[in-house]
Parts: sequence; C-alpha cells; structure tokens
Amino acid sequence: MARLSDDPHWWRDAVVYQIYPRSFRDADGDGVGDLAGVTSRLDYLVDLGVDALWLSPIFTSPMADFGYDVADYCNVDPVFGTLDDLDQLVAGAHERGLRVLLDWVPNHTSNQHRWFEASRSSRDDPHRDWYVWRDPAPDGGPPNNWISVFKGVPAWTFDDATGQYYLHSFLAEQPDLNWANPQVEAAMHDTLRFWLDRGIDGFRADVVHLIGKGEELPDLPEGREDDLVVSIDEPFTHELLRRIRAVLDSYPQHPMMVGEVYLLQPGQTVTYLGDHDELHLTFDFRALHTRWECDAMRSVIATVQTEFAEPHWPTWVLSNHDRRRHRTRYGTDARARAAAVLSLTVRGTPFLYAGEELGLEDAEIPEERVVDPDGRDGTRAPIPWTTDADHGWGADPWLPFPPDSTGKAADAQIGDPDSFHTLYRDLLALRSANEVLRRGSMGLVAGDDASAHGVLVLHRRLDGDTITVAANFMGEPARVTIEGELLLSSRTDRPDAPFDGTLGPDEAVVLRV
Ligand code: GLC
Repeated sequence: MARLSDDPHWWRDAVVYQIYPRSFRDADGDGVGDLAGVTSRLDYLVDLGVDALWLSPIFTSPMADFGYDVADYCNVDPVFGTLDDLDQLVAGAHERGLRVLLDWVPNHTSNQHRWFEASRSSRDDPHRDWYVWRDPAPDGGPPNNWISVFKGVPAWTFDDATGQYYLHSFLAEQPDLNWANPQVEAAMHDTLRFWLDRGIDGFRADVVHLIGKGEELPDLPEGREDDLVVSIDEPFTHELLRRIRAVLDSYPQHPMMVGEVYLLQPGQTVTYLGDHDELHLTFDFRALHTRWECDAMRSVIATVQTEFAEPHWPTWVLSNHDRRRHRTRYGTDARARAAAVLSLTVRGTPFLYAGEELGLEDAEIPEERVVDPDGRDGTRAPIPWTTDADHGWGADPWLPFPPDSTGKAADAQIGDPDSFHTLYRDLLALRSANEVLRRGSMGLVAGDDASAHGVLVLHRRLDGDTITVAANFMGEPARVTIEGELLLSSRTDRPDAPFDGTLGPDEAVVLRV
C-alpha cells in the first residue's frame, strides 16, 4: 500500500490533476459523471503518475453554476453520489498514495442555501447580515455600479419583500457572503473542519480574493464597471486568510489550500501567500492568457519566477474548466505537446486539467445543448474513455463529446508511443525520477541571446545536476547551441539519434547536461 509522505511541503513536489466530476466518468449510467466513476479510475491516475486530485464542486447544489452555487457545504449532491461514496474515493486514493482536494466556494452560496433563505426572510432575521444587503441608491437603482460576472447585468438584485438589494458578484443565484460578520467566518471555518476531519488533504478556494470586501463598496472607475473580479484586492482578505490558514495548520495531514486569485497585475497574486501564513499556493493565470509566442511566454515565465522566487513557489495552469483548452487555443498537437513539456518542467506546481493528457480539444456545442451561463461548456465536455460509440458512458452524456473522441479515447492512446497520453506519462515519470525537475532552481536564457530566437531555453539545477529544456515556438526547424543527452522530446517523429542542436517545428526537448 502506497503511503502519503509526511513532508509538510508535499504540494511543492506534487502534480495536481483537476477533475470536473460531471464530465469525468459515469458509474451509474445517467449521463453525468459521479464519485463512484472517479473511484473506478483511480488506477488510471496512478498509472498516469499524478500525485493529487482536485475535484471541482461536489457539494449539494441547485447547479445554477454547476456546483459553484452551494446549498450545503457539508454534503454531496445526489447527482455525484453520497458522503459514503466520497469516503470510498478518498480511502481508495489514499491507499494508492493520491491526495484529494475539494473545491471550497467561500465567496458566495446558492440562493437556496438555508442561510440565504433566512437572510432574505426579513431585515430582522439573525442571518440578515450574513450576506451583503444595501439600500437602493437615491434614484432607486443599485447601490453601486458593479456589474456581475456572467450576464453583464448589475451585481445587485432587488428583493421586493425586504426592500433592499443583495450583492452577487456572479449570478443572482449566487449571493455573496458577508465575511465581515464573525458568525459567517466561524461557520465557514466549520465547513473546512467538516472535511478535514474526514481526511481531506486540502482545498482549491474559489475566487478567494473576493471574500474580504470593504464596508464602502465604492463605484468602479467608469468603463471598468464589469471588472469586479479582477479589481477587488483588499487588506481584509489577508486577515481572513491568516485565520483560515490557522484552521488548516491545526490538522495533522498538512492540508494545502490553493487559491483562485483572479488578479492579473504584476505582483498581486503572490501577496496572497502572505508570510507563509495565508494560502500555500495561488493560481496565476497570466500564462493561461498568453498566446503561443516565444517572447510573450518567456516574459510571463520570467515574471512569475521573479515574483515567486524562494521562499515562494509558483503554480502552472494551461487549462481548466473556465477557459478554452490549450490544445484548442494553440491550434495544433505539436504546440500542445510542447506546452505540456514546459508546464511539467518549469519550476512550480503544475495543475493538469483532466483530458489534457489525451490532447482533447473543446467540444463544439450546438445552441440547443448550451447549458452554462457563461459559454464554458466546450472545455467541460465528457472524457472519451473507449473507442466504442458511447466512449464508455452508457447513456448520452450531459454535453457532447470533444472532436475525434474515437482517435483520442483513453483506450486508443494508452500504450501508443506517439500518443499524448504516453507523452504525459513519460513527463510525469521523468519528474518523479529527477528531483532537479521538482525542486531545482531555474534560470531562463534571455530572449536577446541570438542563439535563442524563437526558442525558449531554461535550465533547472540542483546539487550539480542540470537539466535543460528547450521549446521551439516556430513552425520551422531551429538550431540551438545547447548540448546534452536527450531525455524526452515532444515530437513523435524524432529520428533515433543523439541530440545535435536541431529542434523540429514546435518541438520541446528535455536534456541532461
Ligand atoms: C470561479 C470558478 C468558476 C465559477 C466562478 C463562480 O471562477 O472557477 O467556474 O463559475 O468562480 O463561483
């Protein structure tokens, strides 16, 4: 039986695999993936070589935002199964040395959460102040100019019964909690304890930078009314995070929290790590917003490495359930393969999104099958497991399959030396065998080095061991002046010969120097 390491910094070494449970694996044949489905695929994940799973929301929810509208933080939605199914998943994962992270949604609840139902019932209800209620502006309109994230409508909804507006940064079905109320804070800490007591290894915290709103809620600058999510960056959030961290630190399993801090300005996200007393990790989405272009990517990697220099630690994300997959954004297999090499060899903790190891593209969603309020269905398409017509799903799944689901089915790729699956498996094995890739320092060769035009070169170093990674961002071959023993290439047709300094179009290589 594999054991989880006792290292309190296990998350620095880990590769985390994000599962969107609705789309992963369906065990009960209703067309929606579930927890038993995830459990049935744990051996697949061990064989792939990841270290931890992050399950997108599985809590009880009316699903207005597919689980990011939580009606009960301490239970599993029936569509995914039961608490017992989750316990079995966690036990099965732990037996295999995999950690499990849950998606904790602290900024807002569902409008069907009992706290909000009480809050909206009367101005005198003890839960009234658990949410953000304000009087109308003098003209009867919303209290400020904030626009909510999905539908371009005001971030405030007027409640006829009590004559005030409530704040919702996202859908009207997702009212924002008022973390300035100590009872809210205590109740939310309890939700963490509930899962930590059951042995959960940590959390991905949804839009966690939004929780500490000020009392004032001033207008956003004109023209930026809908920049709500990228604008809120308040000192109070840091105070709240320090107390959240204290809850996590009181558990023996070294729980980790990675925050979705959706801030894009230089220097912003790293502040959410505090002085090792706030988040353990924070997402930084600048790479995800960068096109396949050498200078642009080099500059993002350089900036992130500088901002997250020791004692900090960065994360890398190419795809998730909110953005088009990188295979779709970059447009070709060769680029997506080279990007995989980079994301698994740069310094930091990589987060993989289920299906990227199959090179999946976003599905085309016909209008009549659109279900997401924000157009994100394509990236959430079901994983094709088999080459059968139903791709291992039994029933017609809740969303259409991605393109070429027969050719890209897991069964078709496993064991094929040229497949995406084999590339990811090899990369993960390489990481696991080479501490220098996990823990080494990193140096980037500057863009003005003439030998590196259109080619990104980086070195990882640890105790005299050096690994060099080179990625050619050009659609034609390139010559580089680096040397070493070829450990891995993203190219499927590389001749079986020692590395001679030539890179194929959009090829990335890993060399031992
Ligand atoms: C985060 C989630 C996204 C969700 C939103 C509101 O950005 O990743 O899926 O819709 O928060 O909870």
